[in-house]
Amino acid sequence: MKHETIEKNVGLMAVLIILVISGGGLAEIVPLFFKDSTTKPIEGLRTYTALELEGRDIYIREGCNVCHTQMIRPFRAETERYGHFSTANEHVWEHPFLWGSKRTGPELARVGGRYSDDWQRAHLYNPRDVVPASKMPSYPWLFDRQLDGRLTGKKMETLRTLGVPYTDEQIASAGSDVQGKYEIDAVVAYLQALGQTHSNYNTR
Ligand code: HEC
Repeated sequence: MKHETIEKNVGLMAVLIILVISGGGLAEIVPLFFKDSTTKPIEGLRTYTALELEGRDIYIREGCNVCHTQMIRPFRAETERYGHFSTANEHVWEHPFLWGSKRTGPELARVGGRYSDDWQRAHLYNPRDVVPASKMPSYPWLFDRQLDGRLTGKKMETLRTLGVPYTDEQIASAGSDVQGKYEIDAVVAYLQALGQTHSNYNTR
């Protein structure tokens, strides 16, 4: 009888559904805000350098994260190919995080060190020069554009308000660290840092 009352009363049903989903959601989500393994940085984690940080912004600008994920899932097929699965405490200083959800190209969370700088440059200039069947776009303009470093320190300051522990020295020298470097230098520095900002999972 009671069940029938609920089934015949859309308003009541909606309220009860919302209650059930909220309860389940809270039980799953709230503990994550208090667990050290999801809120504290993994031991030995370092921040991105000024050049890597600029590279990360160019990576976002060019939409690299639309085709590439940065989250290795805990399945054998993934860990054999890409290395140790990703953990939340590796990413606590990433704003915004770039885990992604669509893989048109390979997963990149631990691509740092897999190829030489020269390979990365050639690949970004024209992917088909090194991977003939590649569908990845070319990014030749990265080789022409220079960084002026005007905003690099400001970006670090902003990240610091979000809890990324940049030091005053890093912020002070950020502009001159990147000034005059080419965008390609920044993107390659960033790619080579992926998975390399701590040594805990570097098994390859
Ligand atoms: C339209 C989708 C697409 C976009 C956008 C894209 N890629 Fe790719 N990427 C691919 C595909 C497909 C491959 C595999 C073929 C190859 O190696 O070129 C790949 C391969 C790679 C690899 C080699 C990974 C490995 O493990 O072999 C790197 C590094 C990479 N991309 C970086 C980038 C960067 C940096 C950008 C942005 C500047 C970018 N990609 C944008 C599709 C894309």
